[in-house]
Amino acid sequence: MEISGKKALVTGGARGLGAAAARHLAEQGAQVTILDFDAEKAAQIAGEIGGFSLQCDVRNEEQVKESLAAATKHFSESPRIIINCAGIASGARVVTRDGDVSTALFRKVIEVNLLGSYHVMSYGAAAMMDLPALDNGERGIILNTSSAAYEDGQIGQAAYAASKGGIASMCLPVAREFARSGIRVMAIAPGLFHTPMMEGLPQETVAGITANIPFPNRLGAPSEFGKLAADIIQNAYLNGSVIRLDGAVRLPPK
Ligand SMILES: NC(=O)c1ccc[n+]([C@@H]2O[C@H](COP(=O)([O-])OP(=O)(O)OC[C@H]3O[C@@H](n4cnc5c(N)ncnc54)[C@H](O)[C@@H]3O)[C@@H](O)[C@H]2O)c1
Repeated sequence: MEISGKKALVTGGARGLGAAAARHLAEQGAQVTILDFDAEKAAQIAGEIGGFSLQCDVRNEEQVKESLAAATKHFSESPRIIINCAGIASGARVVTRDGDVSTALFRKVIEVNLLGSYHVMSYGAAAMMDLPALDNGERGIILNTSSAAYEDGQIGQAAYAASKGGIASMCLPVAREFARSGIRVMAIAPGLFHTPMMEGLPQETVAGITANIPFPNRLGAPSEFGKLAADIIQNAYLNGSVIRLDGAVRLPPK
């Protein structure tokens, strides 16, 4: 699908990979709505790219529905491009060293990363289905963000890996379901990118992580994520699969 002139919606677009994807789409001529928990930063990025922003907690189904309606009203058409980047990476052992067990963090990570993406994907696709098909039969594309941890999750990443594994696993069944509507579903599984999410980690941890990246031996640049997102959108034959974007990294157990 050609990006120029299309309406796009990016969750988690206030910073990191989502902001990079939003910028890249805007540079290619898309009209971008950013949905993010962080209203102030979302408005700032939207201002920089001539887009529109809305505060939304993707866990909240009603807010997602209302935000999609507001984005559609603002740009006079439902988005044909949806990129789900909103996510959190909180980690914890299943059983702590003291023998304690809690399901609170597991629940929260699944709710934000998996259920949040599901909310935006499902309501976004329902709206896309009402749009006329483009010349090649396409109506739109949903691009979800998984993680390399969906295949090689580390100790402490049970919740995160499960959420990202869910995103990867639903890609094919949903692409199959939406095929009759001309809506593609893809996922990117990033390795380790230089975003505020990574900046939260101790420097030794980041140095250790970087040492394991074969080539290029550095963290990924968010612009490289934005570029792959655009490539996927433009290539109509990519559908139902997960692409690792990771410099050949395979995460060690810890
Ligand atoms: N950075 C990496 O190395 C990396 C690697 C693999 C996967 N990912 C995934 O890529 C996505 C983006 O990561 P990032 O590094 O840019 O993260 P980030 O923390 O820099 O940005 C995430 C954004 O999501 C927003 N957000 C969080 N919870 C939300 C909610 N409930 N509702 C709405 N918005 C919410 C935050 O406000 C923030 O703007 C995430 O899904 C992450 O799991 C990142």
